[in-house]
Amino acid sequence: MSVTIAVGAQWGDEGKAKIIDYLSENIDIIARYQGGANAGHTVVANGKKFIFHLIPSGILYPRTICILGNGVVIDPQALINEIEKLKQENIEVQNRIFISEASHIVLPFHKIIDEHKENFAGKNKIGTTKRGIGICYADKMLRIGLRIGDLYHKLEEKLNHFIEIKNKELEILYNLAKLEPQKVLEDLKKFAEYIQPMVINSSLFFEKQLKQGKTILLEGAQGTALDIDHGTYPFVTSSNTTTGGALTGTGISYRYIQNVFGVCKAYVTRVGEGPFPTEIFGEEGKEMRNLGNEYGATTGRPRRCGWFDVELIKHAGRINGLTGLVLTKIDVLSKYKTIPVSIGYQRNQQKLDYFPSYGWEDCKPIYEFLPGWETDISHITRWKDLPENCKNYIEKIQEWTEIPIKYVSVGPTREQTFAL
Ligand code: IMP
Repeated sequence: MSVTIAVGAQWGDEGKAKIIDYLSENIDIIARYQGGANAGHTVVANGKKFIFHLIPSGILYPRTICILGNGVVIDPQALINEIEKLKQENIEVQNRIFISEASHIVLPFHKIIDEHKENFAGKNKIGTTKRGIGICYADKMLRIGLRIGDLYHKLEEKLNHFIEIKNKELEILYNLAKLEPQKVLEDLKKFAEYIQPMVINSSLFFEKQLKQGKTILLEGAQGTALDIDHGTYPFVTSSNTTTGGALTGTGISYRYIQNVFGVCKAYVTRVGEGPFPTEIFGEEGKEMRNLGNEYGATTGRPRRCGWFDVELIKHAGRINGLTGLVLTKIDVLSKYKTIPVSIGYQRNQQKLDYFPSYGWEDCKPIYEFLPGWETDISHITRWKDLPENCKNYIEKIQEWTEIPIKYVSVGPTREQTFAL
């Protein structure tokens, strides 16, 4: 029983990377299980800011082994860039990064099609990161995708079949230029050579390590409300961001799972299109964005901001089997005299006491108003030193969500995190 999962409990950008980095100190192996270079995981360590897109955030600890599980979709150039950047920073990567041979590869046409679809979708635009993620997962489901293991087995044959299909799609469906198979093949051969020492059967690897008593942390990307099944469909990402995805995306048995931490901001943000019941609009929304410096780590897009949504977190608790919450960026609320918290919704004539599976845009939040603390808390590292109103805010969230709050974060650095 030595696996911990950290999932996003909202729409992503909850501060998972920071918490994963914090928890990694006592962890042997850290693995990503879904998503790809659409993620932007920011860690501030030793005064330096790192943004990871594919590599697990635990890489900054010298002894941690980092794995990209079979559920991750891998963009070759993004991975190479990230590894090379780590090398430049003198971070040891040899024998520390491993990739599942069953992970799917994001190819140039995935990105071209993602971008094209987004640009021409009009009001049906999802607001994707244009990293080709959804198109790559769609090809995985269509059973035509290319996996890491294929780089070493009948690559040319498999790629040609794939490109033939995709070139027809590019030409006929989208009226776009076809790709030159030879160029894609050459690039893939170089990539195959570059990553060869890193390629493993990850499920087997995890099993062996667990039997030796090693500890594993599974790092979710995006968040519960972006889950393909349990999120605000169709305004979601194309993978299972939740606990179920952590199992299928690594091949680790459920029997090893000990803790599932749901990471959530003390308020809510989302990037891209889609419903967001507690969103704050206009100047007030801008104010929160500036207070929280809410801009996407991958695309730089401004994040939409809103008040804490209890039903969303209860939903995340149910879907993920959360054993605890990690509440981040509570320092951002220090400016407010009164802080609204949504404890349910009014949808048309109906009162909802759950996060629904449709019609979120018609959900009007029912707010409770909590008193603010109006004082800087970013230097505080113990529960007992927090202002009474801040303790009250945390306790109320715990009471309403019915999930124990295990850690609180009051700023971007490792030191600004403490256990309750
Ligand atoms: P995709 O994952 O690029 O297909 O984008 C689908 C949706 O997920 C869009 O709303 C994106 O803004 C959102 N998304 C993808 N990755 C992240 C992330 O790491 N943080 C927050 N939102 C994300």
